[in-house]
Amino acid sequence: MNSGSDFKLSLKKDVALIEPSGGGVMILQTATHRVTLKPVTASLRVILTTLATEATTTEQLEQLAQAADGQPGRAGLHKLLPQLFTRGLLCRSVWLDDQPLATAAPLTAPNGFQTGEVAPDRLYILSRFVYGHTVTGQLALESPRSQTQVILHHPLAAAMVAILAQPQRSDELVVKMPNLPVNVIKLLLNLLLNVNMLTEFQENGVTREDENLALAQWEFHDLLFHSRSRRGRHAHPGGNTMRFKGQIEPLPVLKPDMSAQVIPLYQPNLDSIIAADAPFTQVLEARRSIRAYGDPPLTVEQLGEFLYRSARVRSIVQTELGALSSRPYPSGGAMYELELYLAVDRCVGLDRGLYHYQPQAHQLHKLAAKENDVETLLQDAARSMIQPVRPQVLVIMAARFQRVAWKYETLAYAMILKNVGVLQQTMNLMATAMGLAACALGNGDSDLFARAAGTDYYAETSVGELALGSVPDSVPDWAAMDVDKSES
Ligand SMILES: Cc1cc2nc3c(=O)[nH]c(=O)nc-3n(C[C@H](O)[C@H](O)[C@H](O)COP(=O)(O)O)c2cc1C
Repeated sequence: MNSGSDFKLSLKKDVALIEPSGGGVMILQTATHRVTLKPVTASLRVILTTLATEATTTEQLEQLAQAADGQPGRAGLHKLLPQLFTRGLLCRSVWLDDQPLATAAPLTAPNGFQTGEVAPDRLYILSRFVYGHTVTGQLALESPRSQTQVILHHPLAAAMVAILAQPQRSDELVVKMPNLPVNVIKLLLNLLLNVNMLTEFQENGVTREDENLALAQWEFHDLLFHSRSRRGRHAHPGGNTMRFKGQIEPLPVLKPDMSAQVIPLYQPNLDSIIAADAPFTQVLEARRSIRAYGDPPLTVEQLGEFLYRSARVRSIVQTELGALSSRPYPSGGAMYELELYLAVDRCVGLDRGLYHYQPQAHQLHKLAAKENDVETLLQDAARSMIQPVRPQVLVIMAARFQRVAWKYETLAYAMILKNVGVLQQTMNLMATAMGLAACALGNGDSDLFARAAGTDYYAETSVGELALGSVPDSVPDWAAMDVDKSES
């Protein structure tokens, strides 16, 4: 019986232990890594085979190593264990008698091997970055601050974690968790502490983790999104994995027409534009966000030219994986998931309302949006700019999420947001080149948009905006630069 005087150790479940015949090496193989150990001593063999088959304490491993190779075997064990930890191959678990309560399983090679212990007179609280979700039928704790996942095997461990939402001393937990022996409680606390899931709650009411001013300014969802959409802190496959290939049809390159009310748009002659256009650096240097508008408003011809030059489909190519398009702005994987919608307030030659842009036919399709919803979309944009007037045209960028998620794993949403920035900048520069007023926005209401356009929030909704209009005779300073006051 072990009622928790020490962690139990075991190799991660996905580590295969291979000893090639006559090779003189032992190999630890995972889906992505291979660690080769030599020379193969009797103690190395018994340590690794034990770790591969059962959870065992360091003390038990010491006895096995000593029995196999004497003192050198024991010394070898203490060199081997940190190596296995730092390569992300070793799990630590806390047991109550013959039942596992919680296991810390590395997701990737952790940054160092932490062996800290909670102090009995200090308060500890669960890190505000910890979250729980189910993984193959078990409750797992993860955190964007940790490269380790903690599996909670037993309701007693889950109960203790729930209590740790409030600051606790270990002796208080002993009273609150009468079914757990004091040493098991300490081990559970140490397990969480060593994987950055527990933090000290200080007398001044600030946690140790929030003493770090960089960390204090991260919101939970932002740090999780950052750590999960970039490589390094998780073991999920990332990039162009096409995990739905053969199961779900990819979305077509173009969204089917959304209405029969079609407004063909003006197509400028690109050769004439190239001959007359301002030089690139002049446009770049003149660009600034303009949040005030002129009278008369911009015209439907200008709108046609603006969309044609910045966002039309130039060509479509067929590939093995479906059709891809080419447009004036770049887009991750050429998936071009962004759909453009226009909430029009005032535009010469175009009625007020909500429109979808068909980028191949270069047409607008008028949608049956409620007047109230169109008004709120425009008012929201004005509020984002701290301006009394609505943009003449609000360009709303919505993403057909599955177009990207079908192909890319782990980074799909991050890529979509990057594509928004790319298109906003293309449109900002185009507005400057055409003498129009533009300001990128990023704080729109995606629920409101989905309702107005009649889209399914999970399939397609807004991810960014750009306010557009004609330029006023003189641009007041407050309309050009409002860095302090603007919402985002
Ligand atoms: C992604 C993004 C979101 C923005 N959101 C807003 C906004 O909500 N309100 C606003 O007034 N300006 C917004 N802006 C404009 C910035 O405030 C502006 O680009 C910045 O102050 C620099 O000024 P400049 O564009 O005139 O050079 C946004 C710009 C970007 C790129």
